Amino acid sequence: MDAERRLRPETVAVKAGRGPGAPGDPLGPPLVMASNFHAGAEREYARTDGTPTWRAFEEAIGELEGGDAIAFSTGMATAAAVLDTLPVGARVVYPTVSYLGVRRLMDVDGDSGRLDPVGVDITDTGAVIAALDGADLLWIETPTNPMVGIADLERLAAEAGDRGITTVMDNTFATPLLQRPLEAGCDVAVHSATKLIGGHSDLLLGVAIAREEEWAQRLRGVRHDTGATPGGLEAWLALRGLRTLPVRLERMQATALELARRLSQHPEVEQVVYPGLTHHPGHELAQRQMDGFGTMLAFMVKGGAARADAMCRAVRLITNATSLGGVETLIENRAAAPGEEHLPEGLVRLSVGCEHPEDLWEDLEAALG
Ligand SMILES: Cc1ncc(COP(=O)(O)O)c(C=O)c1O
Repeated sequence: MDAERRLRPETVAVKAGRGPGAPGDPLGPPLVMASNFHAGAEREYARTDGTPTWRAFEEAIGELEGGDAIAFSTGMATAAAVLDTLPVGARVVYPTVSYLGVRRLMDVDGDSGRLDPVGVDITDTGAVIAALDGADLLWIETPTNPMVGIADLERLAAEAGDRGITTVMDNTFATPLLQRPLEAGCDVAVHSATKLIGGHSDLLLGVAIAREEEWAQRLRGVRHDTGATPGGLEAWLALRGLRTLPVRLERMQATALELARRLSQHPEVEQVVYPGLTHHPGHELAQRQMDGFGTMLAFMVKGGAARADAMCRAVRLITNATSLGGVETLIENRAAAPGEEHLPEGLVRLSVGCEHPEDLWEDLEAALG
């Protein structure tokens, strides 16, 4: 284990979660589809004790993030489980420009009085620190969805830690290949493994990785009690996806940077947001805390919502669809999605995939024209 920890993340992604491998064993963990097991061993019922397939996925992602991993049915089930552990009335500081589903959870829990959510601009470090007094939990997302904003992970985790506040970080956009929140001082990292980790737009899955045993136990308890368990096939597919995550990421983020550069010079494009561009306000911070700028970018088309919509419908190779992180490039008029009215009008989100960059560019240019 210790020897493996010293391996680079690209290698850990390939190697972790395989078991010792006796002669005749399959190279990868087999898909175990089981709800219950013969009595008399440590594993009897899947919801309580897990399955070998979940464990293999959890071991691999846990090793990459540097903590104890608990897989859930979806990214949202993971986020809900974290919030479920909090006492009634707990104050949660969270980003107001961030993933829609988590913001909605904050609204619902705030309206019912179960939680006391306080929204902040997570990229404004001073404003976040000013909101921390009296808080129980700080929820960070960086890069943010869909504005690709960058929050100061280490500073925020340290300020929260000094005040005894738990820090939870949604690492979906970066993955542990590009950014390791637990090393930066956060208590729990969460993911929608539906996205880059699965990587093929064919599953829903979530995972939380806790630095301390106490948080891992709490989250395992919520998973058990609410039944928000992962599917066997989904966990198996996600582990299969994880094996190629490093190479997919390398290709996807190189293309994302190239497309961001070209889009920012296009006469029909108003503004491009990508942390790899030097004019992005979080560029230097991203350079410091990430091992790459990621696969997601956003841009505004001149002419507002109607032009953005027309562009998303005009692409031929790229798919006009929601979600992100798969091998296929997706485009979405994100500002038109219900619940995203606060975004700049006509904001288009691009999830860059593995296609040849020149084919993608030709498609974007034609659609812009
Ligand atoms: C940053 C982020 N976190 C969490 C989620 C929720 O994940 P899931 O759709 O797997 O529930 C998403 C989904 O888009 C996301 O983008």
